[in-house]
Order: sequence, then structure tokens, then C-alpha cells
Amino acid sequence: SVLIVDFGSQVTQLIARRVREAGVYSEIAPFSSAEAAFHRMKPKGIILSGGPASVTEEGSPRAPDAILNSGLPILGICYGQQTLTQQLGGTVEGGGEKGGEFGRAFIEITDRCRLFDGLWKEGEAHQVWMSHGDKVTALAPGFRSVASSPGAPYAVIADDERCFYAMQFHPEVVHTPDGGKLIANFVRHVCGCRGDWSMAEFKAAKIAEIRAQVGSSRVICGLSGGVDSAVAAVLIHEAIGDQLTCVFVDHGLMRMGEADQVVSLFKGHYNIPLVHVQAEALFLGGLAGVTDPEQKRKFIGKTFIDVFESEARKIGGAEFLAQGTLYPDVIESVSFTGGPSVTIKSHHNVGGLPERMNMKLVEPLRELFKDEVRALGRELGLPDVFVGRHPFPGPGLAIRIPGEVTRERCDILRKADAIYLDEIRNAGLYDAIWQAFAVLLPVKTVGVMGDGRTYDSVCALRAVTSTDGMTADIYPFDASFLQRTATRIINEVKGINRVVYDYTSKPPGTIEWE
Ligand code: XMP
Repeated sequence: SVLIVDFGSQVTQLIARRVREAGVYSEIAPFSSAEAAFHRMKPKGIILSGGPASVTEEGSPRAPDAILNSGLPILGICYGQQTLTQQLGGTVEGGGEKGGEFGRAFIEITDRCRLFDGLWKEGEAHQVWMSHGDKVTALAPGFRSVASSPGAPYAVIADDERCFYAMQFHPEVVHTPDGGKLIANFVRHVCGCRGDWSMAEFKAAKIAEIRAQVGSSRVICGLSGGVDSAVAAVLIHEAIGDQLTCVFVDHGLMRMGEADQVVSLFKGHYNIPLVHVQAEALFLGGLAGVTDPEQKRKFIGKTFIDVFESEARKIGGAEFLAQGTLYPDVIESVSFTGGPSVTIKSHHNVGGLPERMNMKLVEPLRELFKDEVRALGRELGLPDVFVGRHPFPGPGLAIRIPGEVTRERCDILRKADAIYLDEIRNAGLYDAIWQAFAVLLPVKTVGVMGDGRTYDSVCALRAVTSTDGMTADIYPFDASFLQRTATRIINEVKGINRVVYDYTSKPPGTIEWE
């Protein structure tokens, strides 16, 4: 295994992810408790993460001496390189106003070292992603420079004797195309880890962890219909069986067949205790006359919590609340960038619940990214059609119906959306798209069908590619695909007589329309 010492970088979890992709188990420990984790884990190697501090500031974080003196291989990334250098006797200088390098850069490989074996050769140039203010200006004894860029003579430094390597750039991000291979080389070739760790082992480790955390207490879990909460629930059920009860609040704003799918999966397939609350009337009643997007979101979020809380009270005696929180949800909420960020949308998830219900949290997916959650879902035997589903927002179809939300408009949208997704599946494009959905606009236009005049609603189609939902590009369908889909929707869905395609990336647009 490998211990990752976290100095607070936004992307530390990506290091863990690359290590997992290399088939090696890793744990992340904050620098302040890294020494204890090191003694407990007995890892084969150490990675020092990046971080927002400057080693030139007094009191900035350091790697524990016990780790530096352990004789194990060490890989220092960005801040990790700087603190490693300074702690071992080199010099780091602050970037000041003019210093620093941010974004894409090219480095030249100037010498060989074990870290590059089988990957990078002298004289080659490679793209990397830089993001640092300070930089190393004199190497610690034993190190030599093995790669440099015009702005960074010590882009990669190496001490093959002690197996210490460090770099100014971030190998863990996708903008360093060979970064994953570099990390794999470190953990397997340099540290000698076997590379046979898998999602099956992650599952087994999490099950043991959940049992230890929960003991004989009861747990309740809110199901949204989405992949994350379903995977969390099935995993927890494997760990503690019927100590878990799931609550599915059906707000009537689900996609076609979605509620049935969740209920039959949980009750029929897994036999997981499930309370299915039919609350469509409550939600649609409250949404009557509401057209403002934020008002819709706030009402749905609050009502969801009310309903969930009252069901939980009926079940009684649960000490723990389970949530399918993923890593990207965690970074968004503990951003290091500081300063109040602007609220673009009030997100609805079960976020308000823990405080209100005074329960302890079980969040077994906190370290994972979406595609890893899907892999875990498959490992748990969840059907592919369920696991591969596109993300769906908590407020559901309400934020895909600008203007007033009614049962009738939900039904129209459900039909159009189902046809669109059906065509996407038929074309074999479903998995290439992050999210695709139809939006029903509060605009009527004139058309002609048969020999008659029509005056009906406009339906907009949206499809985007993304890796985390934070930024997105439009999916460039063929014209023939869009023509076919538009024709089907207009012919088959009463109430829609015009279809348009949304060509807006994020930013400047958001993925959902409200
Ligand atoms: P936006 O529209 O903000 O969406 O670009 C980014 C991603 O988040 C989803 N989304 C939500 N998910 N509760 C959720 O659980 C919400 O309130 C919510 N709003 C947006 C959206 O579908 C996309 O995947």
C-alpha cells in the first residue's frame, strides 16, 4: 500500500484515484496525523501532495521526520516537492508577484531516472500541468535535475539512491497526459507494490469499515432514484443487512419508469427494507403557481426534508443517516479558494438533514468519483442499465419545466425525454454522453400537421459531455440523429410541435436550465 500525505491540495483525491487505477491500495492522511497513519499502515511508499501553503511561511505544514527517515520511496508533488527539498537541505523561494506558473507547460527530459523507466527518455518533451507560486532554487544533497522547463529548471528531481522523486507539476490531473503512468511507475516499479488491488477489495474493506462504525445500531438511507444513493444503500445492506431501512420519497418529478425501477430493484432484487412514500400530490400542490427557479428548488428541498424526517421518525431508533456523497460533492463544499462564492443554484440533496436530525453520518462513497461508484455498483451486482444511468438532479423534472410545473406538463416531458433517450441508446451513444435530457419550454409556437394548424409547446434537447459536471461541452450529434429524434417526438408526443437543440457549453450555461 501507499500512504498519501495531504497538504490540502484540491486534487489530493485524484492522486488516490491514480494509485487505485494502478491497482494499488492507498490511504490519504492529513499531514498532521500522517505519522500515526504511517505506523498503522506500514506502507511501501509515500506520496506528498500539493497544497495551498508556502514553505517559506512560518508554521507551514511539514512531512513528519519519521517518514523522511524511514528508508521508503517518496514522491513529492508541487508543495510536496518544496517541503521535501527544504526539509532535506535545499532551498525554496517564494514566487512573489511575478513568479509562478499556471496551466499547460512542456518539460524536457534531461536525464534518466528510475521513475521514468519504460516511459520517458532523455531529449523528449512532454506536456504537464503546472500550478505553483513558489519554486525550488537549490537542490538538497543527493538530488539531481532530470527534467526542466524554461520556467522550472527543477521540474523533476531525483535521487535514485534513496528512491526520492519530486516534481513541480501535477501528475494526477488529466492535463498531464502521462501523469497516471508516472504515478503507476512510482507505486509499482519504484515502491514494488504488486498492482493487483481491485474494486472487490475496496468493497470488502468498506464493508468491514461500515460494520465497525455502525455496530448494532440502525441506519436509514434516503434514496433519490440516482446511482449514488442506490450504490451506497446496497453496499451498506451487504454490511449490516436489515439494520438498514431505505426511504424513497417519490416527488412525482421522476423520469419515465424511474420510480418503479428503484422500487423493484430494492424490494424485488435485493430484498432491502424500503419505505416508498408517494408524495406527488404534496410536491405538485406546493409547486402550483411557482415559476421562479430558486423558489422551486427551495420548496422541493425543504419539502423533501420534511417528508423524509417524518418517515424517519415513524421508523424510529436510527442513530445513523447514510448518504451517497461523492468526492466532487466534498471538494465543492470545502473549497480552499476562500471567499464567499456566489450561489448559482440552491442544490437540493439531503444536505440539510444531518443537522436537523442530529444523526451520525455513514458516507461510504466519499473518496470515490462517479465512474468509480459505477464500478463499485457493478461489483455489487447492480444491473448495468441502472448503474450506467445519467445523473439526475434532486429537484427532478421541475427544473426542466421552466415556468409552472403541472402534472400534465410532467407527463408530456416524460414522454419526450423517454423517446430522446431511447434514440440515444439505439444509436449506441448513451455511454459517450454525461447527461442528456429534454426540457419543456413555456413557449408555444405555430405549426402545421396534416392540413391543420397546431399551436403547441417547444421541446429543447440537451446533451453534454463532462467528467464531473463542473464544466461541460455540448455533444455534437449528427444532423440525421437530431432530425430523427425531433420527428419522433413531434409525431408521438401530444402537446409538442417543435424541437430545438441546445448548443450552450458550461460555462457560460449550466447543464440544467434552472
Ligand atoms: P448545473 O445545472 O449546475 O448541474 O450545471 C451540474 C450537475 O448537477 C446536477 N444538479 C443537481 N444535482 N441536486 C442534485 O443532486 C440539485 O439540486 C442539482 N442541480 C443540478 C445536474 O443535473 C448536473 O449533473
